[in-house]
Amino acid sequence: MKIAWGITGAGHLLQESVNVLVELSKKHEVTVLLSGAGEEVLKMYGLFESVQNLTGGKYRELILEEDQRTSFPMTGRFSLGTYDLLIISPTTSNTIGKIVNGIADTLITNAVAQAGKGHVETYIIPVDLESGDLETVLPSKLELDLCQNCEICVPSSKCPNKAITPGVEINLLKCEGCGACQTFCQFGAVTGGRLITIHMRDIDIQNTTKLYEIEGIRVLNHPTDLNNLLF
Ligand SMILES: Cc1cc2nc3c(=O)[nH]c(=O)nc-3n(C[C@H](O)[C@H](O)[C@H](O)COP(=O)(O)O)c2cc1C
Repeated sequence: MKIAWGITGAGHLLQESVNVLVELSKKHEVTVLLSGAGEEVLKMYGLFESVQNLTGGKYRELILEEDQRTSFPMTGRFSLGTYDLLIISPTTSNTIGKIVNGIADTLITNAVAQAGKGHVETYIIPVDLESGDLETVLPSKLELDLCQNCEICVPSSKCPNKAITPGVEINLLKCEGCGACQTFCQFGAVTGGRLITIHMRDIDIQNTTKLYEIEGIRVLNHPTDLNNLLF
């Protein structure tokens, strides 16, 4: 099967999505599409390289938002029968909101729109599925309540991307999620993978509900639901 897999900028379900993507790539030809935020967030969680390593060659490409300018010409492939299936996982509330309102102004929302026009079935795994609170995982974080403001901040001096401003924060746009900083602070002031609780907004849940009504789109609850459908 020729599959296009889009990743948007969600930390939630990101590791789980990458795990399934890796397995899927062993059996199918998978082209990976990254929204701009998808690329940034993959790097923050240290997962960009594992996605990049899956790609290379025809139908196993890595397509970046920035390379597609504003008309997203590659999404024309969905009208030309290149792909059998489009998967978007994880899918941010931002991208869901656009899709349910018929907006196509990013790589991923254009892919969904063109897949609909080209009769390519689309599976979407939203991060905002049910109302209430949800536990999700953070990338590397400087914990200011533990930071001792050392004269020489070892994690900062060891960071290959100079992403840490001691006593202030980690610049996540510079961080590539290597996690080295977490091992260097003797006070445990740099964490990685800390869980936080976030509240699902009604507007986002309502948008996800609307997704079920769109023709050609199938909503899945979790990336592992793909195991029953595609393996
Ligand atoms: C570390 C990090 C984690 C994020 N996780 C989520 C998330 O789980 N769900 C979500 O809807 N947005 C999340 N965002 C915000 C999106 O990246 C942001 O709304 C972005 O504009 C979405 O763009 P896209 O839908 O084109 O990918 C996260 C941002 C950061 C920096």
